[in-house]
Amino acid sequence: MILAGATAVVTGGAVRIGREIGRHLAKAGVNVCVHYNSSNTEVAEAVEEFQAFGVRATSISADLSLPVTAAKEIFDHANQALGTVSVLINSAAIFETGRLADTSEADWDRHFNINLKAPFFLTQSFADQLGDQDGHVINIVDWRGEKPIPGHAAYTVSKAGLVAQTKLLAQELGPGIQVNGIAPGAILAASGESEDDFQRRAKLNPLKRTGSAADIAEAAIYLLKSEFITGEIMNVTGGQQLS
Ligand SMILES: NC(=O)c1ccc[n+]([C@@H]2O[C@H](COP(=O)([O-])OP(=O)(O)OC[C@H]3O[C@@H](n4cnc5c(N)ncnc54)[C@H](OP(=O)(O)O)[C@@H]3O)[C@@H](O)[C@H]2O)c1
Repeated sequence: MILAGATAVVTGGAVRIGREIGRHLAKAGVNVCVHYNSSNTEVAEAVEEFQAFGVRATSISADLSLPVTAAKEIFDHANQALGTVSVLINSAAIFETGRLADTSEADWDRHFNINLKAPFFLTQSFADQLGDQDGHVINIVDWRGEKPIPGHAAYTVSKAGLVAQTKLLAQELGPGIQVNGIAPGAILAASGESEDDFQRRAKLNPLKRTGSAADIAEAAIYLLKSEFITGEIMNVTGGQQLS
């Protein structure tokens, strides 16, 4: 795909990994609709920062725990503000601890709505507004989605679903739309995780270091530029999925 002049929606694009992906897209000449939930201050900074690269940028707040309503709101706004969207980055997610015994139905539903059902209906809205034009979806998954380990039950199963969804929709939406996933490893400390614990976790991968949000954004740019990759999950983990 030729990036300059394209238009993207980035969910969870105000902060952290989503923000870095938006920054790389804007630098590459892509107009960006930044979706956010509660990061009001950061989203205003993100829009200003992206516009400074000479692209158009806008923002829309929507709660992805109401996936169908949110998908409609996001694409209504993006289409009205920026025109047809040809890139969808599903980055927004929640990540909470829990095992079988202490996961409530509400925990399960929250993870599945935000992490899996929202990307599904966002992709539906994305494909609808694209018609027969070409496009690209990137789902930010997790290496745990293909190599589950106990500790984050609802999160891990929701990300495993998103891996399956990526491979399924790559088949349904070809030849016009490519659908790929990026599986980050230890990139940024989770909310409530100390820097020491994060660094200890990073030592579990063969490269024995953390990655950066830029590593994920660069992988996204690589996939978006590719013309012959679809249904692929790219691990950006320092090899953590091998351990
Ligand atoms: N950080 C890592 O090292 C790592 C590792 C593996 C996988 N990942 C995956 O990479 C992606 C980005 O990770 P991150 O750590 O940068 O993300 P994050 O900070 O945990 O969250 C990303 C965004 O999700 C949005 N969000 C949360 N609940 C929402 C809701 N109900 N409705 C709408 N948006 C909601 C938040 O938006 P607001 O801020 O606007 O509220 C938040 O900014 C996620 O999919 C994550 O699972 C990250």
